[in-house]
Amino acid sequence: MTDHILVERQDAVQIIRMNRPDKKNALTRAMYAKMSAALAEGDADPAIRVHVFLGVPGAFSSGNDLADFMVVATGGDGGTEVWDFLMALARVEKPIVSGVDGIAVGIGTTLNLHCDLTFATPRTVFRTPFVDLGLVPEAGSSLLAPRILGQQGAFALLGLGEGFSAARAKAAGLIYEVVEEGALEASVLAAAGQIAAKPPQALKIARDLMRGSRDDLVARIGEESEHFRERLKSDEARAALTAFMTRKKA
Ligand code: COA
Repeated sequence: MTDHILVERQDAVQIIRMNRPDKKNALTRAMYAKMSAALAEGDADPAIRVHVFLGVPGAFSSGNDLADFMVVATGGDGGTEVWDFLMALARVEKPIVSGVDGIAVGIGTTLNLHCDLTFATPRTVFRTPFVDLGLVPEAGSSLLAPRILGQQGAFALLGLGEGFSAARAKAAGLIYEVVEEGALEASVLAAAGQIAAKPPQALKIARDLMRGSRDDLVARIGEESEHFRERLKSDEARAALTAFMTRKKA
């Protein structure tokens, strides 16, 4: 089986690459589990100073695998991998840099709310169609997005499901920088290298101060997850998921 998550180390940088191009990096339970493990291992290893998330050309992630959602919608077990990953993201001890090119849907957007620096390419669109799928925001986005984007920007993203171009995302404070496709990985790795070269203890304290207590974030992810799991079994969600699964491609 192809490895859908590739974990690689370059000096003090741990690179977690989502690598399921045929499904535009839709995330399965196994992929979440591997990303959680990588975050934990990188955090525990003093030789690693920064985590990096990357996707494939044209797709950072199309969000949770909708076939996995359908399993829950039809009475099956969804497991805990998604929620474990979201908690790991909320609690991660070392800085995260992400490089986003192209599709960034659902968790492909909300993951970036946890990143310290996000670079995106001009063709990137951030989108969270949770409500259109009969679902609710996840990954603490109902708390983090209003802080970053303001109440109305957050509503546009999470309520209306509007797409945010890279330029709009930068203007709104959702991402750090827009760079051309060909420069994305070099820019991400240069920033990661810059972070890795900082005095790690001072950087950790500075980051912790900027983030503050994670308690409210962790509590919110728990609250979102309760609603999310219930919503997955709703008629609204089942109808939206069935529409995606049975759609005819142009
Ligand atoms: N879950 C499962 N499969 C997905 C997926 C997802 N989230 N996103 C894309 N795929 C699959 C498609 O079904 C298709 O599979 P196929 O080739 O076997 O038919 C393949 O990935 C390529 O997707 P396609 O739709 O052909 O690419 P596109 O470039 O035209 O559109 C998206 C890409 C992401 C805009 C579109 O696939 C989409 O809207 N996906 C659903 C996104 C979503 O709602 N995510 C959940 C958020 S909570």
